Parts: sequence; structure tokens; C-alpha cells
Amino acid sequence: MKHSAIDLAAELARFRTDLPVEAAATPPSSWYTHPDVLARETETVFRRSWQYACPTDRVAAPKSYVRVDVAGDSYLVLRDRNGTLRALSNVCRHHAAQLLEGAGCVEQLVCPYHGWTYDLDGSLRSARDMGALADFDRQRFSLPQVPVEVWGPLVFLHPGRPARSVAEELAPLAALLAPTDTPELRHVHRRRYPIQCNWKVFIDNYLDGGYHVAHLHHGLAGQLEMGAYATQLFERFNVQTCPSARAAEFHGRDFRARIGGGALYAWIHPNLMLNRYGDILDTNWVVPLGVDRCEVVFDYWFSASEGEDARRFIEASLEASDDVQQEDVAICESVQRGVSSRSYDTGRYARSEGGMYQFHRLLAEELRR
Ligand code: FES
Ligand SMILES: [Fe+2]
Repeated sequence: MKHSAIDLAAELARFRTDLPVEAAATPPSSWYTHPDVLARETETVFRRSWQYACPTDRVAAPKSYVRVDVAGDSYLVLRDRNGTLRALSNVCRHHAAQLLEGAGCVEQLVCPYHGWTYDLDGSLRSARDMGALADFDRQRFSLPQVPVEVWGPLVFLHPGRPARSVAEELAPLAALLAPTDTPELRHVHRRRYPIQCNWKVFIDNYLDGGYHVAHLHHGLAGQLEMGAYATQLFERFNVQTCPSARAAEFHGRDFRARIGGGALYAWIHPNLMLNRYGDILDTNWVVPLGVDRCEVVFDYWFSASEGEDARRFIEASLEASDDVQQEDVAICESVQRGVSSRSYDTGRYARSEGGMYQFHRLLAEELRR
């Protein structure tokens, strides 16, 4: 699609961050449709924040790796021979071929192009027929590394220089999610949803304080006590909580078997959500793929994952999660078409949408710096 030029600074300045939510207007539609805004986000938001990388389980063993692409750069999160977790650049220092795809287990990193070989600590071990070159110091051709941190069942990496550790940034959330530290929580499944919408449309949908649940998710609404839905704001994240409805059913069972006493939905700026209910933890990790495209990655952990009963429970639970997700995908794609139409520019926040306003304010602050 061809986009007309915009005055980026002026478009960013149009959004007011100094009002109470009852008086504020949402960001202009250009924030959701113009590639200049996405380029600025890449630079000032994604490259300057901790980014979810993968479940800790997937890089538990020495020599295991997962490729993660963040904000235009490709990384390998891996555990080296000594058990040290690293996030290395996935780009060969010779002519820039990418070293590995997907995930797996490797002895060393061998470039598919001309065969330069790196150790799992990133050092260049061999470079075929390069011995006679002038001024070629192998030591200076290691793969660059970025900060990486394990936070309970999740691994994060930071594409830049973090001001604080994940543990510091999310300390109050760790307390709220404390049960996720239980060793029984095991990663059992990953599902990806490609969606034709700007990444923020999906986040906004998540942060409306339950406003859309009763209207869009009839199945889910009957299982939650929507009157008690609450949102709590913290510095760089927020938490929505809702108890389960007393008479709720889930596949012929008391729904509390699935969500326990209730659900906790945590959003971590900018693009990660953690959902905690019953014996389950899952992510909604929103990866921008273009100004009007994103992919949402769901990783699922269950605390009981062995045996026939657990298997059936997991299957039914994943199915219920997918039903809700399909409804969200359809509405997010509808919103993207809407913000792209000339008739729409800005909207207003419902009173329950304070979490969404918090997201837009943090974003505005970062986009303007
Ligand atoms: S690009 Fe990797 S060895 Fe040439
Ligand atoms: Fe939803």
C-alpha cells in the first residue's frame, strides 16, 4: 500500500497524555497505519525494552537454542557447554548470512554460506582459508551478545542497554504471579496466530478492562464474575483480575477446575501479556510483522501435564482458549480495516479502559524522545 507523507512529530504530538481517562481521546489512526510510526516504535520502543524470547524449558539443556527475531534483528538464545545462557547475534560476521533457523540442539554454529564456525560462547573458532589475510584477528570476529535474563518460566532478552533487570522491573508482578514459580509448571504447547492488524490493535483489545468480554465473548463471559472485574496500574505493566462465576461450567465440569478462583491478566509494556488462571499460565506475545500485520504467540504451561486425565484437560483447555482467540482475531482485523478508513481518526476511552490509556501514554513518551 502507498502511504502519503506525514509530519511524524505533529502526529505524535496530537495525542494528549495529560488528561483523566474520562476526558482523553485515543491516538490518531496514523499511529496504527503509517510505516513511519512503526519505524519510530522499532527504534524507541522495541529496541529499548526487555523482550520476551522463549520459555525457560526450551533452553534448559546445554547446547539447546531458540532463534528469536526482535525489532529487525535476529538472535540465538542458547545455553553454552558450561550452562551459561546467552543471546548471540544470529548473523555471520563474514557476509551476514543468518546462522540458524527455528530451535534445536547444536555442537557449534556453522554458517550455511561458507562454513565459518563459531563456538556456543560466540567466539569464531574457524574461518576457512582466511589464514593468509592481512590484519585478520579472529578474536575480533565473535558474534555480538545482548543481555539475557531468566524470569521464572520465561526468558527475556534486551536489544539495547537495560536500565534495570527484568527482576527489578517486574518485582511487584512476581509477587502477584508467585504460583508460577512452582517447579511443576511445564511448557506444553506453542500456538501462533497471524493477524492482519497493527500490533497495538491486539494490545488495545486486551486492555479494555473487560469492556468487550460480555459483548464479544459470550462463552467466556458466563464463566467470569464480570461485575468484579478490576484493573490495577503499575509503572510499566498493569494487571486485570476477575473471579470465576460461581456456577460456571467448562466441558461439563465446574469451570473453576480450569481457572481456579479467577483469572489474572498481566500486560507488560510494550508487547507481552501473561494470563494466569487455575493451573495454567499462557502468553500473548505480540510480534509486529508490518504496520498492518502481526503474529501473536501463545505459549502454554500447565502444572499437571502427565497422564491421561491431564492430557484431556489440556486439550479441552487449549480448545477453549482457541475459541476466545478466534473471536479476538476477527474483531482485531475488523478494527484494522476501520482505522484505515478515511472516516475514522480518533476515538474515546470507556471508563474501564485506564490500562489502555496507560499503554498509549507510555508509548507516546517513548515515541517522542
Ligand atoms: S556468510 Fe557466513 S561464512 Fe560466509
Ligand atoms: Fe478478547
